[in-house]
Amino acid sequence: MEGFNTYTNEGTLDPYFLKLINRARSVTNSSYSPYSNYRVGAALLLENGQILTGSNQENASYPAGLCAERVALFYAASSYPDQVIKAVAVVARSARETEFKPVSPCGICRQVVLEYEMKQGVPIQLIFQTQDKQWIITKNSRVLLPFCFDRDNL
Ligand code: THU
Repeated sequence: MEGFNTYTNEGTLDPYFLKLINRARSVTNSSYSPYSNYRVGAALLLENGQILTGSNQENASYPAGLCAERVALFYAASSYPDQVIKAVAVVARSARETEFKPVSPCGICRQVVLEYEMKQGVPIQLIFQTQDKQWIITKNSRVLLPFCFDRDNL
């Protein structure tokens, strides 16, 4: 598949992506996930260099909860509506372990990234780790959503 770069070794990542990953790791501490015990952290980079973070927030009424990526994206869009979002990193770990596990953004979050990508007219890169421990850096969100539904369909 085209449209992304892979890195097996974290040390070969651009330091600016590594910083984003580390911020995503830190924010897993604020995950509220008593039901899944699965702590997710997302960090996004704004055009002005600012990094905003979010963690997953669950609810006893399960569908009311929200993924880490959308917490961070909605925070960015509501507080910094004129700032271009350049990249989003996502990481996850179990509440019982300190080691991070591979995770890739869920379909709904991919759709939300696509929406902001179209709104701003600038690609948003996604950064995450696969099951075979490869770091993926996509060139945009669209590569993760082939045959996507977007505003052009309406
Ligand atoms: N989750 C995220 O925060 N991001 C994803 O991309 C996948 C899933 C959260 C939602 C829920 O709180 C928990 O992980 C288990 O699905």
